Amino acid sequence: MAITRTVFITGGARRIGMAVAKYLHASGYNIIITYDKSRHEANALSKTLNDIRQGSFAAINANFSSKKTCEAAYKKAIKVFGRIDVLINNASKFYPTKINDVNEKSWSDIIDTNLKIPLLLSKEFYPELKKRKGSIVNIIDIHVNPPLKDHIIYNVSKAGLLALTKSLAKDLAPHIRVNGVSPGAIMWPETDMGNSSKKKEILSRIALRRTGEPDDIAKAILFLIQSANYVTGQNIDIDGGRKLNM
Ligand SMILES: NC(=O)c1ccc[n+]([C@@H]2O[C@H](COP(=O)([O-])OP(=O)(O)OC[C@H]3O[C@@H](n4cnc5c(N)ncnc54)[C@H](OP(=O)(O)O)[C@@H]3O)[C@@H](O)[C@H]2O)c1
Repeated sequence: MAITRTVFITGGARRIGMAVAKYLHASGYNIIITYDKSRHEANALSKTLNDIRQGSFAAINANFSSKKTCEAAYKKAIKVFGRIDVLINNASKFYPTKINDVNEKSWSDIIDTNLKIPLLLSKEFYPELKKRKGSIVNIIDIHVNPPLKDHIIYNVSKAGLLALTKSLAKDLAPHIRVNGVSPGAIMWPETDMGNSSKKKEILSRIALRRTGEPDDIAKAILFLIQSANYVTGQNIDIDGGRKLNM
């Protein structure tokens, strides 16, 4: 019988993470997502995907903050299908921190979620991923460079995540491939985006003149985990050409 590989996605109950879960599920993978506050959405996704293929999806509650929370999530996850082949670090905090808003609380909140947790999860999953000759995909951001104005801590977190991607690619080779996918404007933030003139201004600087679809991110991830056997330490911008005009 053919092996069904398992993908673990952090923050996979909504938005881009959910689209990635659905797309990889449709591509034949078993899926485990984590959710923090989005229990309702996680349950709905569980019903949808398990209705399509029974016993192919599980959702684990995790509020990632520490080594302990990473260990607990891994312990629960490995019991579900008995194997994990891919780790996708998708969960993220995104809000502005102008210089006067910077404090230790916002630093810990954003840096821990976007940078510390991907490292601790990579460490936790390492033996299993090594056994499976698996891979890691970190969801970064085109604003690693140049930075997004008024988002000092977020920019630092994602720049760190790019550095982490390359460091892990080097240190976990030749067993595990580690790559990044950097979205441009895919889904507008749910927090206030200001008036729509801000959106228009962003769209005018995207070469393809539109936002991307969450599936565009999923397709890049599928390429990296399934077809890109000779690719590690890379970061793919999925931005409709936004970086051409930054
Ligand atoms: N949206 C875009 O256009 C865009 C652009 C550039 C980069 N990105 C990157 O792409 C990824 C997905 O973007 P998105 O907009 O879909 O993300 P998002 O909605 O901002 O966040 C995804 C999920 O992260 C989870 N999360 C946050 N902090 C957590 C914590 N401490 N512990 C556990 N879970 C936590 C939340 O889960 P719950 O809802 O369950 O609480 C949330 O639903 C992110 O890494 C983001 O930085 C997105």
